[in-house]
Amino acid sequence: MRLLHVCLGLVLPFFAISQSDYKPTTPLQSPIDKKVDSLLTLMTLEEKVGQMNQYNGFWEVTGPAPTEGNAAKKYEHLRQGLVGSMLNVRGVKNVYEVQKIAVEETRLGIPLIIGFDVIHGYKTISPIPLAESASWDLEAIKKSSSVAADESAAAGINWTFAPMVDISRDARWGRVMEGAGEDAFLGSKIAQARVQGFQGDKLSANTTIAACAKHFAAYGFPEAGRDYNTVDIGTSTLYNQVFPPFKAAADSDVKTFMNAFNILNGIPATGNAFLQRDILKGKWGFEGFVISDWGSLKEMISHGFAKDLKQVAEIAVKAGSDMDMESYAYVNELVKLVKDGVVNEALVDDAVKRILKVKFELGLFDDPYRYCSYEREQTIGKPEHHEAVLDMAKKSIVLLKNENKQLPLKKEGLKIALIGSLANDKDSPIGSWRAAAEPNSAVSVLEGLKKHSANTIIYSEGVKVLTSNPGFTGKANISYDKSGFADAIATAKKADVVVMVLGEHGFQSGEGRSRANINLPGVQQELLEAVYEINKNIVLILNNGRPLAIPWAAQHIPSIVEAWHLGSQSGNAIAQVVFGDYNPSGKLTMSFPRSVGQVPIMYNRYNTGRPANAEDNVFWSHYSDEENSPQFVFGHGLSYSEFSYEDLNVTVNADSTLSVSVKVTNTSSIDGKEVVQLYIHDKVASVVRPIKELKGFELVAFEAGETKTIRFTLTEQELGFFNNLGQWRFEPGDFKIFIGGSSNTVLETEVTIK
Ligand code: NOJ
Repeated sequence: MRLLHVCLGLVLPFFAISQSDYKPTTPLQSPIDKKVDSLLTLMTLEEKVGQMNQYNGFWEVTGPAPTEGNAAKKYEHLRQGLVGSMLNVRGVKNVYEVQKIAVEETRLGIPLIIGFDVIHGYKTISPIPLAESASWDLEAIKKSSSVAADESAAAGINWTFAPMVDISRDARWGRVMEGAGEDAFLGSKIAQARVQGFQGDKLSANTTIAACAKHFAAYGFPEAGRDYNTVDIGTSTLYNQVFPPFKAAADSDVKTFMNAFNILNGIPATGNAFLQRDILKGKWGFEGFVISDWGSLKEMISHGFAKDLKQVAEIAVKAGSDMDMESYAYVNELVKLVKDGVVNEALVDDAVKRILKVKFELGLFDDPYRYCSYEREQTIGKPEHHEAVLDMAKKSIVLLKNENKQLPLKKEGLKIALIGSLANDKDSPIGSWRAAAEPNSAVSVLEGLKKHSANTIIYSEGVKVLTSNPGFTGKANISYDKSGFADAIATAKKADVVVMVLGEHGFQSGEGRSRANINLPGVQQELLEAVYEINKNIVLILNNGRPLAIPWAAQHIPSIVEAWHLGSQSGNAIAQVVFGDYNPSGKLTMSFPRSVGQVPIMYNRYNTGRPANAEDNVFWSHYSDEENSPQFVFGHGLSYSEFSYEDLNVTVNADSTLSVSVKVTNTSSIDGKEVVQLYIHDKVASVVRPIKELKGFELVAFEAGETKTIRFTLTEQELGFFNNLGQWRFEPGDFKIFIGGSSNTVLETEVTIK
């Protein structure tokens, strides 16, 4: 039963407000801060700790199934005001049910914040984030996140655990699909776009939701690419590669951060005061709250950092973890820790204030049911959303190879053999983070090719890729048998051109889905080679959630289209590119290795002391059985247009900034887009700098034959770096400036800044 129905100046429709509950506050505070402070004074210690407790819902799980906290207990805690948030509760009916308990049955009626993993769409699914990043189109990415927010908010959700802004250089890691690739500069811009897309201009609107920058920090650097594994990186990498996208998210006013499962310098991220207190809440002045990752408080016991749940709670709260997801540490231990004087109540107050503030900003105190409209829920999946994800999908496709202009294919008169079980797969394109998508709801390549051309299309499965849908938590039960080989080969024999769709099933990448081998899984490589024996006119379409090592295909197959897992409209997007209705402009945001042994591989590596050796000896940094360079470099991607670059001009201005210009021409007779990329190299510095660093890019549309001058300005912000004390340094001196359509740049010059 509620004793007080106080919402401090904002009255829930059924609440009575009492002026006497309104405490005077300092003049510098915002109106929301004042309300938060006043509310805090009304709360018992138990209720405060309750706000720091998040429970999983009763239907779905996105982590190891909880051993504690059965449904009855959770409902009891909800009624006692011991729960501040729930995750994995979705749909207006379900959200309404738990929200009603929080608002109408607890003493203070504080609404819940409802979180969900809306990673690339709610029901209408966008391409996986790695694919979206390949568009280099910040507006489109923002739009895609806003579509996801709109649908989630219509389903009762007001908080997404996205964007994942972890930089990663290791294609073995299953979660590279969830990020923006290997580059911190691009990753920072994309982090901002995604936060803006989710949160919009007005967080309290019923079409926007709070975002969450995750996983703080360095989760993208697990040793050997194995998910949840140890992270051991240097300070320079931490400050210059890992932190920037998080800082960009914080600067974009992201409302929440999620910490990480990994250790960093031997300290679990969840118990890491350096990360959460010194950097995030200290240096960066982050005012939102930090949610733990699933069970990451408790996992400090497995790490060997805490002996029991009590110590876990103490370490985590002191380190700045504000909300506990599914560890039951705060709800069970924190009140006692405060009462025993082990934890200062001020730490609890700080965490609770941060949480309440976000709830106020979401407008939940004005109307806790603002995300619970049955009418709006009916609009989920509306046609405009499908148009938006189709647009995003087309922009995400990367044309890796196109020998003799094999693509685009004619729209009629061809006999096309379409081969591969992924070609007829309506489930894989949705990926593993599929939120509320219906299984088998994507447009398949088979459907797309049929819809977008008048060619004769003969489908043959070739290889069976999946025998069952494992769901989010299950292991993908995948079998590859060769029983379809003979039919595929016979089909290819009769065809003018063969389109093969090969790669990974949607459940072969994502959380907990690391791979030690990153080639085409199963017998797909064998099928590819067998078909090639019969018919060499192959268009290879890759479906995958990570860079793959495909050296044989890169050498033999005339055209290769990187089509990732493109979401609900996958087949339509692929078909429009294949038949030339859409001219591709995507560029890779992760290097594609030649073999897994090269991993980690990235364009912004260091030169080393022994970069190359013209002499005939082995004493330089290389492999004896593989080239050093990747198969496809960062920034690579072709178009049906062709572009030339000339007249790179760099001026050093009086204020030490650089003005850069370059002329780019579409030398083809087809309109198209190009991502003009600018890289720098700081030749001598107090901390060794990478051989190339992306510091500018522009996605430019060109008409056939058109020339444009593209300009960039480089300031200390782009020319500097963090030293090993985390201080920003700009060191004048010699810089190389490179420009091109990939990180294999075509123009370069040198300047000296005095
Ligand atoms: C664990 C994942 O690491 C995290 O990204 C996700 O948000 C949570 N589970 C909740 O599902």
